[in-house]
Amino acid sequence: MTQRFAAVDVIRTKRDGGRLSDAQIDWVIDAYTRGEVAEEQMSALAMAVFLNGMTRGEVSRWTAAMIASGSRLDFTDLPRPSVDKHSTGGVGDKVTLPLAPLVAACGAAVPQLSGRGLGHTGGTLDKLESIPGWRASLELPEIRQQLIDVGAVICAATGDLAPADKKLYALRDVTGTVEAIPLIASSIMSKKIAEGTSALVLDVKTGSGAFMKELAQSVALAEAMVALGTDAGVRTTALVTDMSTPLGRTAGNALEVRESVEVLAGGGPADLVEVTLVLAREMLAAVGLDAVDPADALADGRAMDAWRRMIAAQGGDPDAPLPTAAHTHDVLATADGYLTEVDAMAVGVAAWRLGAGRARREEAVQAGAGVELHAVRGDAVRVGERIATLHTDTPERFAWALEALEPGLAVGQAPPAAVPVVHRRVTA
Ligand code: URA
Repeated sequence: MTQRFAAVDVIRTKRDGGRLSDAQIDWVIDAYTRGEVAEEQMSALAMAVFLNGMTRGEVSRWTAAMIASGSRLDFTDLPRPSVDKHSTGGVGDKVTLPLAPLVAACGAAVPQLSGRGLGHTGGTLDKLESIPGWRASLELPEIRQQLIDVGAVICAATGDLAPADKKLYALRDVTGTVEAIPLIASSIMSKKIAEGTSALVLDVKTGSGAFMKELAQSVALAEAMVALGTDAGVRTTALVTDMSTPLGRTAGNALEVRESVEVLAGGGPADLVEVTLVLAREMLAAVGLDAVDPADALADGRAMDAWRRMIAAQGGDPDAPLPTAAHTHDVLATADGYLTEVDAMAVGVAAWRLGAGRARREEAVQAGAGVELHAVRGDAVRVGERIATLHTDTPERFAWALEALEPGLAVGQAPPAAVPVVHRRVTA
């Protein structure tokens, strides 16, 4: 780093609504990562960005500086084109599980570096860890070999990808500066671009169970991330998909694996199949494989074969019975009519309270816990009919989960208006 600055001058520039220079951005991110810029100085800068925003050029440079703070993977020498998917997270969002083997079965390489869950949305690794024997941690040579042999790998992030973001995200969490689009977009994209994929499809969720509740905010986030990917030379598109109600009929680790396997077997709930296929088509088009129809690979078993090989390559037994919770509790309809609301956040919090998620990073999750829906928004129900089953190993949690779930369920006399699964497609 050649040029040095005083942190207070960088803060003042952004506080007064100015534009940070490339050199200022490079310096402040590097100096913060090394501990030379203090936490309180970075807090002030993050708040100034929160209040005054950043231009597209500033956010691109900020993202590049965060990528440069760590290592960057490179999959360009693989025999297949690589394409990755990132979801901003939602309730019952198990799409990565069927999607990665599906896209691999259609000819692409899918390096899917994933995380564990925190709060009401589940983590992909937590879900897969409910499969007996499956391990999340792989070394880089193992990842490469699996991409060559199977075409898909879902594993824990390796090495030090964007360490500046790790530090900054923890700081934003405690300084009220998470909800700023330039900071969210650069945080997500720095990690994704550092993973070294040649193309990226973003699934930006919108609705009560999503990070962004309003469609306009979700579209703005999608646009910001697509711009960042494009500026970094990664072919990037985004779909804004619905998260006002859970995706599919399950929320909880082993329950979601079971439902994903149903999709891979050619069945599964219509909304989950639709999101999986629309993302698969977007990913395949991004790497020039659009002549392949992923629906065929689901129907003829190729996607299931890829799933079995992907799980086995990481020590998992695809034929082993999945864990189930020791206790269940049914939720019954209290009136005849139509289910007009199954609120995503209510279901997510209930699943979390049943033990499917964690409140602190070090907590363990229950593999079998969660919520299984027997009816979804729009379905006709009769009084006394089962709407949902709650699953947990710790039955004292039922009352706590019901407190979250019941206000999110409503039965009315007329069917609710249909909500599209995909709201918007965003391209560069
Ligand atoms: N997820 C991230 O990785 N970063 C954010 O800032 C928000 C969500």
